[in-house]
Amino acid sequence: MVKVITYGTYDLLHQGHINLLRRAKSLGDYLIVGVTNDNFDRDRGKLNVRNNVLERVEAVRATGYADKIIIEDYVGQKIDDIQKYEVDIFAIGSDWEGKFDYLNEFCQVVYLPRTRGISSTMLRSKNQNEVCLGIIGCGRVAKRFPIEASVVNGVKIVAAYDIDNKSANLLSKNDKNIKAYTSLVDFYEKIDAVYIATPHLSHYYYIKKSLELEKHVLCETPMLLSGDQAVELYKLAEMQGKVLMEANKTAHCPAFNHLMVMIKSGLIGDIVDIEASLSKLQDCKNDLRELDPAQAGGSLYELGSYPLLPIIKLLGVDYESLTFYSRMDNGIDLYTKGIFRYSKATCSFKVGLGVKTEGNLVISGTKGYAYVPAPWWKTDYFELRYENQNENKKYFYKWDGAGLRYEIQEFISCIVNKRYSTARLRRKESIGMANIMQQFSDRKNFYNI
Ligand code: CTP
Repeated sequence: MVKVITYGTYDLLHQGHINLLRRAKSLGDYLIVGVTNDNFDRDRGKLNVRNNVLERVEAVRATGYADKIIIEDYVGQKIDDIQKYEVDIFAIGSDWEGKFDYLNEFCQVVYLPRTRGISSTMLRSKNQNEVCLGIIGCGRVAKRFPIEASVVNGVKIVAAYDIDNKSANLLSKNDKNIKAYTSLVDFYEKIDAVYIATPHLSHYYYIKKSLELEKHVLCETPMLLSGDQAVELYKLAEMQGKVLMEANKTAHCPAFNHLMVMIKSGLIGDIVDIEASLSKLQDCKNDLRELDPAQAGGSLYELGSYPLLPIIKLLGVDYESLTFYSRMDNGIDLYTKGIFRYSKATCSFKVGLGVKTEGNLVISGTKGYAYVPAPWWKTDYFELRYENQNENKKYFYKWDGAGLRYEIQEFISCIVNKRYSTARLRRKESIGMANIMQQFSDRKNFYNI
């Protein structure tokens, strides 16, 4: 019996896939089809796959050509599969010509003719109108946005606005598709969605205005410094049928998401303690927004939403108490330590713009603990550790570019699929964070050290 194996994503299954499978099957008697796992695709930069792995497996099965379907999960798996299933022929479309010659050591490699004029990429862009997006606030943070958006299908950055014309012009100069506007009215006319990266205190104004004009909104973190405002604006978004999303890049990072689901599935037992820290020493002599009390500068507002994220995602927003200890200077907190008491757990976080500390994340449970070294907020590696060290496991991931592509992709996917809340950072969690910011501004349970 001649065994043939082939691999692919098979998103939005099309005639090209069907032809390929038919040709592969005709090379032998038994066809094994490897369908890529969602995570694996994400890791190799395929961020826009529409069908999930189960849908894609079902589509391949429905062609009737596959005798066996397997999931492709990791780099190097092809060699393992070829040996495990005693494969005679590896077949793949001619777009891969030469790329799999290294498999000749294990079996015969055949490149099959590719069907012209069709691909999943083509179908994805055909049945999706591109979302036209504008950027408000074109400073340091926003600069990376167009580059990151360029790797996400279905979005086009077309407009930029900043009260300082120079910054908007600079974005426009670096990308010919982006037009800089001096009038907000003209700016809003050209867009379906907006990314807001202005200083914290103006978020409320721009979010409200954008939602009233029926634009979807992605807003930099911390989205709001008041829980009441967050409740009001999420309600407005719902009424307008628009997506409102907080752009917390850690929340959208694949490795961080995997860590969260692993812990929620009990791998380290019940969570009893979380410690998360992040410090970013700033030169106090510089005239930075981060250090300016009039612009809501300070460590908690600037950095707090990152360490708060694992705490709130894992233990929720129904804590019994939260106490802040801050070192204040010139009206801002150069350092803040926060301590949460939950009914069955305690958590602490440290943030510093004027104090340096080890920036790691440790989640302690009744069976073991998770350790994520700095910079854990750009998670690409973590360990699960146990009493019996033989059970310890290390997990490695890829973190692409500046990491904004994951939140942009989720934002566009929410718009296209009319999902108004994302599991990566739920409304309730985002409102919870705004409530914490509000408690800090109200100086409740607050000690100056
Ligand atoms: N294939 C083909 N003819 C096409 C498209 C794909 O023969 N017109 C083959 C590929 O060469 C590969 C298999 O189908 O062997 C699965 O490819 P996949 O990457 O899933 O499909 P694409 O349509 O190429 O997807 P994308 O546009 O996302 O790259």
